[in-house]
Amino acid sequence: MRKTIVHILKEEPKGHELTVKGWVRSFRANRFIALNDGSTINNLQCVVDFENTDPELLNRITVGAAIAVIGNLVESQGGGQAVEVEVKAVKVLGDADPEEVKKTILQPKRHTLEKLREQAHLRVRTNTFGAVMRLRSQLSFAVHQYFQKEGFYYVNTPIVTGSDAEGAGEMFKVTALDMKNPPKDEDGNIDYKKDFFGKETNLTVSGQLEGETYAMGLGQIYTFGPTFRAENSNTSRHLAEFWMIEPEVAFCDLDMNMDLAEDFIKYVIQFVMDNGQDDLEFLENRLIQEDKSKPEAERALMPLREKLKFVLENNFKRVSYTEAIEILKNSKPNKKKKFKYPIEEWGADLQSEHERFLVEKHFKCPVILFDYPANIKAFYMRLNEDGKTVRAMDILFPGIGEIVGGSQREERLEVLQEKMAALDIPEEELWWYLDTRRFGSCVHSGFGLGFERLVLFATGMTNIRDVIPYPRFPQNAEF
Ligand code: 4AD
Ligand code: MG
Repeated sequence: MRKTIVHILKEEPKGHELTVKGWVRSFRANRFIALNDGSTINNLQCVVDFENTDPELLNRITVGAAIAVIGNLVESQGGGQAVEVEVKAVKVLGDADPEEVKKTILQPKRHTLEKLREQAHLRVRTNTFGAVMRLRSQLSFAVHQYFQKEGFYYVNTPIVTGSDAEGAGEMFKVTALDMKNPPKDEDGNIDYKKDFFGKETNLTVSGQLEGETYAMGLGQIYTFGPTFRAENSNTSRHLAEFWMIEPEVAFCDLDMNMDLAEDFIKYVIQFVMDNGQDDLEFLENRLIQEDKSKPEAERALMPLREKLKFVLENNFKRVSYTEAIEILKNSKPNKKKKFKYPIEEWGADLQSEHERFLVEKHFKCPVILFDYPANIKAFYMRLNEDGKTVRAMDILFPGIGEIVGGSQREERLEVLQEKMAALDIPEEELWWYLDTRRFGSCVHSGFGLGFERLVLFATGMTNIRDVIPYPRFPQNAEF
């Protein structure tokens, strides 16, 4: 295996020879190459003896070029780094024409995030996106580590589904029919019986229902996969393709579900605090710089790592929907008619403005809202004894809003059937799901965590399009 810069920077500088490969970030005074290979935010300084180097070769050491360096690792003469490479030979592996580089975001200067998004194939070579993507990778590793250590099994639920029962959002159709000339049935409708799967199919909005069937055999499972929603939400919190983690646990009620979600989130955040210090520090400073150009009211309340520590050290506040409505009804913005959707009575669906008020202004910490009105939540949630609320929970995070949605599931067959009938959900479509309630049904719960919203929170980025390599959103599927 090739030696990477993250390891080289930790080596004792004994003057020993090594080879290192990477991309030139800068080349100063014909002498100092800042080399980055993606393994860390930190560059390796490589010092060229320019007087004894072919000028033509020196000209090819340009920003963005891929090079191999052979040299000796020595203690650094300058400040700023502990070690550096005394270059003996440089080989240009891939040139980067400076005139062409100037037209791209590789040109070392401040670019807006919008500009970087247009060149998403190159943005990973910037410090900011290198840091975000390394942290994203660490977070996904931590997700697996957490569930595996807790005895959960990783289940891959289908991406193409034949049921639209979840009702979590608009779906993308999957078809192999010729859309210019689709087969029609007697009534003139498209005949999906002639389609690839012999029925209408969609990209999944959630793996939950299939996940539940697996929890009924493996006990505790989690999914971690891509999820698709065709809703036309052009916000900094929504993607059309995002990754979701969905644990599902047999013999687990809503309180245990909340404990699990809180413990899980804290674990993965602790993991990046322990393993992503350099990247977190970089992003923290980036935010501090960015905030300087913002009005006071829009600035972050805490530096990034302090914010993460705050989440680790404080219990999430657990509040029932009914309590939350009381708080919102009597809140200043509600009384002063500052909410776009005023809260008038119990039963109102909470908009993100309400969630943010509760988290950022009222409680000032992560909040778990539970026991929502049945009619604003999905059909599968456990009906409470009051007959009007369900055992739902949403976790709301400062700056993010909803990061987790989950519930205790309705385990009673008849209640579930009644609910489905009331909502016109055909039993034929979900016969397999209902079987879990027919054979050995039990109290069980689960939740879904939007992975990109977690990455947003952990990196302090503000737009969800900047925490996934190639974001999909309305009118955009470039790359
Ligand atoms: O609240 P949601 O819709 O819940 C479900 O899909 C359940 N089946 C989960 C379960 O109980 N197993 O979505 C769960 C989470 C949200 O809290 C949010 O973090 C994220 O998924 N999410 C999105 N993230 C990015 N873009 C979107 N369009 C999202 N929609 C939901
Ligand atoms: Mg939700």
